[in-house]
Amino acid sequence: MFIKKMSVLLFTALLVMGITGCGNTEKDSKDPKLLLGFSQIGTESAWRIGNTLDIEQQAENYGVGLMLENANQKQENQIAAIRRFIAYKVDVIAFSPIVEDGWDNVLKEAKDAGIPVILVDRDISTDKSDLTTCLIGADFYNEGVMAGEYLLRKADELGLEQINIVEITGTENSTPMMQRQAGFFDTIGADERMNVLESIDGDFLKSRGAECMRYLIDTYGDSIDVVFSHNDEMTIGALPEIEKAGFEPGKDIIIISIDGGQEAIDILKQGKINCVVECTPKLGKALMETALKLKSGEEVEKLIHPEEVYFSDEQDTSQIMPRGY
Ligand code: AHR
Repeated sequence: MFIKKMSVLLFTALLVMGITGCGNTEKDSKDPKLLLGFSQIGTESAWRIGNTLDIEQQAENYGVGLMLENANQKQENQIAAIRRFIAYKVDVIAFSPIVEDGWDNVLKEAKDAGIPVILVDRDISTDKSDLTTCLIGADFYNEGVMAGEYLLRKADELGLEQINIVEITGTENSTPMMQRQAGFFDTIGADERMNVLESIDGDFLKSRGAECMRYLIDTYGDSIDVVFSHNDEMTIGALPEIEKAGFEPGKDIIIISIDGGQEAIDILKQGKINCVVECTPKLGKALMETALKLKSGEEVEKLIHPEEVYFSDEQDTSQIMPRGY
């Protein structure tokens, strides 16, 4: 798979570099400005697919040669990809770590090879601060806060006295899972009406969202007032299970989701989701600009968070612009 991708890339690089017979001036003007190796987590969500497309598009816009590898949701595949990028002597390595732990050894290898590493989307947990240069990704904690603040407003609006919440979380030990949960719990924690029945791992997958919801309904039945789901995919998996059990999502059960992809926004407009917090996958521009700066030895910002908003039944949802992912 990688070999195939590499040959396509090499072929493209040869074409771009003008090694097909053009003179030097021509060749220089079309040289990729740098070679970037990027290890993507997988294709688990519309968000992830949108993120990959955005990175590919921006690499083209910025004249960056991109070696892209899909790890199919496996950390060992990401580690192997990073090792291949090192062997290939790319200029810069970027990756979206599926989980936070377990990266020190391979990142030390990149450091020893003198290749700077950019974290995209998710963070790592390490006590060695010099293994990566920067992080370009969402403020997941703030996304959890926005979700919690929506719920506090909704509880006031409905005059609810006790609110039973189930949480379907993203991949265990991943940055969005931990930070979204922390932001949400910190926001609702002091409110005595809020009661979390259970948090369950849905791994950011639609199929797991459905399984988790079936289990939650079997276990808690009609006592569930709120589903807080860490991404749209799991929400979209959970909704039919709620309907099959005879409940109306968005009315009998408050539904809060994160990502803001087009499908979830369309469901919000139908009234079956109450609030969707945005998590933008459009990180490609900042990634290319940062990689180019690193190549030319410039200082880079340590942390780049894109601006994010939320969409909810408190607003005129017909005004929400097409999302593009
Ligand atoms: O890391 C970002 C999260 O990963 C998105 O919320 C989710 O949809 C994706 O799979």
